[in-house]
Amino acid sequence: MVFHLEDVSLKREGKWILQNINWEIKKGEHWVLFGLNGAGKTAILNLLNAYYFPTKGKVTVLGREFGKTYLGEKLRKEIGFVSSSLQEKLHPGDNTFEVVLSGAFASIGLYETPTDEMRKSAITLLENLGCIEYANRIYETLSQGEKQRVLIARALMSYPSLLILDEPTNGVDFVAREQLLESIESIAKNKNAPTIIYVTHHVEEVLPVFNKTLLLQEGQVFSMGNTMEMLTSENLSQFLGIPVDVIWTNNRPLLSKITTILR
Ligand SMILES: Nc1ncnc2c1ncn2[C@@H]1O[C@H](COP(=O)(O)OP(=O)(O)O)[C@@H](O)[C@H]1O
Ligand SMILES: [Mg+2]
Repeated sequence: MVFHLEDVSLKREGKWILQNINWEIKKGEHWVLFGLNGAGKTAILNLLNAYYFPTKGKVTVLGREFGKTYLGEKLRKEIGFVSSSLQEKLHPGDNTFEVVLSGAFASIGLYETPTDEMRKSAITLLENLGCIEYANRIYETLSQGEKQRVLIARALMSYPSLLILDEPTNGVDFVAREQLLESIESIAKNKNAPTIIYVTHHVEEVLPVFNKTLLLQEGQVFSMGNTMEMLTSENLSQFLGIPVDVIWTNNRPLLSKITTILR
């Protein structure tokens, strides 16, 4: 078991953000967490990361139940996290190689001396993610797609059991997005791959390796199960509240709205 949310609800500033979430992820599964803006996707991730504490229910992550054991730094190293809010927290002047190395310590900024082994891992990861040529650039000067790939390399530095990618293609063009998705797919196919949770509101980004999908709607589970069964025209039309067609092509779903205007 990677994590288990049992009847979890979260209230913030008087408002229920999440309600009665039951979700279990087992080792070897890769999940898509799909929902519109404001559905509560990032709130769930913040629960997993121990940034938020559930108002109701029980959260168990990597064998540790919240409230029973100290979760802090060790848990952070076991969970690789990539998000645009992380990008904002990074120090603008940091060099790209240092950003990757800091992942070994799960710190923002590099305060400890990395070992030679860490340096070697950082180089290998930068190579695997196709960003070795930016290693000596200031992180701030990279393009959005390049930044996200560097952040994935950073997240993998601590050999996490769980890799969470929160809308990693935000602000990335089509070609860079496909390159990023290719990198993510090759990570997922690796023998010792971490379990991956891919968070998105774009159906087109759902890769074949993500065999499971949870549809989150206004803080509640709409449905969850095998991706092919979740991302059907019927289910997504109900979920989105507008009539849509889902067409699977090249093992990827494409979404379009059914138009009712007669020509
Ligand atoms: N700390 C907080 N305090 C108050 N409201 C919050 C807080 N965090 C999130 N929310 C609200 O909860 C809802 C879900 O947010 P979020 O999890 O960021 O959605 P998503 O990631 O799916 O776009 C939003 O309405 C957001 O404004
Ligand atoms: Mg979000």
